[in-house]
Amino acid sequence: MPGSDRKTITILKALLEAEDGFVSGNRLANELGLSRVSIWSRMEKLRDQGFEFEAVTRKGYRIVKKPEALSSWLTRAYLEDSTIDYELVFLSSIDSTNDHATRLLANDFEAPFFVIANEQTLGRGRMGRQWYSPPSYNLYLSFASTPNVRPDRMQLFTLWMGACIAQHLRNRLNLDIGIKWPNDLYFDQKKLAGMLTEARVDADSIRELVFGLGLNVNQVQDDWPADLKQSAISLREPYGRKLDLNRMAAQLVSAISTGYETFISDNIRNDFEDLWPQLDVLQGQFIEAESRDGPVEGIASGLDNHGSLIVKTNKGKLVTLNSGEVHLKRF
Ligand code: BTN
Repeated sequence: MPGSDRKTITILKALLEAEDGFVSGNRLANELGLSRVSIWSRMEKLRDQGFEFEAVTRKGYRIVKKPEALSSWLTRAYLEDSTIDYELVFLSSIDSTNDHATRLLANDFEAPFFVIANEQTLGRGRMGRQWYSPPSYNLYLSFASTPNVRPDRMQLFTLWMGACIAQHLRNRLNLDIGIKWPNDLYFDQKKLAGMLTEARVDADSIRELVFGLGLNVNQVQDDWPADLKQSAISLREPYGRKLDLNRMAAQLVSAISTGYETFISDNIRNDFEDLWPQLDVLQGQFIEAESRDGPVEGIASGLDNHGSLIVKTNKGKLVTLNSGEVHLKRF
């Protein structure tokens, strides 16, 4: 990020931290080594992006309104204290953040980086499905990296990232969020988020990795399209009020970056084995799924070492599923 943008973010962060209080223009000018005019012109730039400020003689500046929609300035200001320094690419509208990240990698854009969009016109889910991606309510982001690790090290990757994100949301919002194997976050038997990991594998190494997350944040129940009304949920419903999209984006960038770094540098198996049973929404449930050898029904009974789902059939046979769609069987 250019140094001049960093200074604008520092101004914004000081104003956000003062909450309803004022920040002296002199203090900002001295701390940042800028003239009062330069502080003013940076605030004008922020005004163009939906911020409103009040200026009072001898008191300074105060924030009176921040944009509710995704704002690169606001997300960066909320991230300012963290050690994460990956590039964040913000887009108001894009086909798919996963596709855009893949294009940037192909053009040698320096990884790791994030692509975060306000809206996707061709948001993709697993198995060729669409991901409903209207503007301004929810988060659509992709994290791209070039990990250069053996493909077998990636077996638990999406499950691990899901566990890190679910843990983060549980701690922050105090909600009983779980994971439905292999790639969904769930609350109250409804889908809260989906993950889509795509990789380019060369010989025996993962060259490029794109991890996409679609998280339903502020969508209200009445606004879901008819086909999602029964099966989808946003954080806003159980949380009871609207969430700050930009604070959420900054926290997810942090949780994903930390989860990825831990994954690459450590053996996460023990931590994952401790975490998984607390998050597994299928554990002990009667499920139906499609295995390579045809349909399977039985009790979901945890994961094997490779992250495959173990299903105990009613004949007592153990079947493992390594991908696919699982349905809870209702009676
Ligand atoms: C699924 O549930 O099938 C996975 C959904 C993944 C959706 C996210 S939104 C951000 C990223 N860009 C995409 O096109 N898809 C993923």
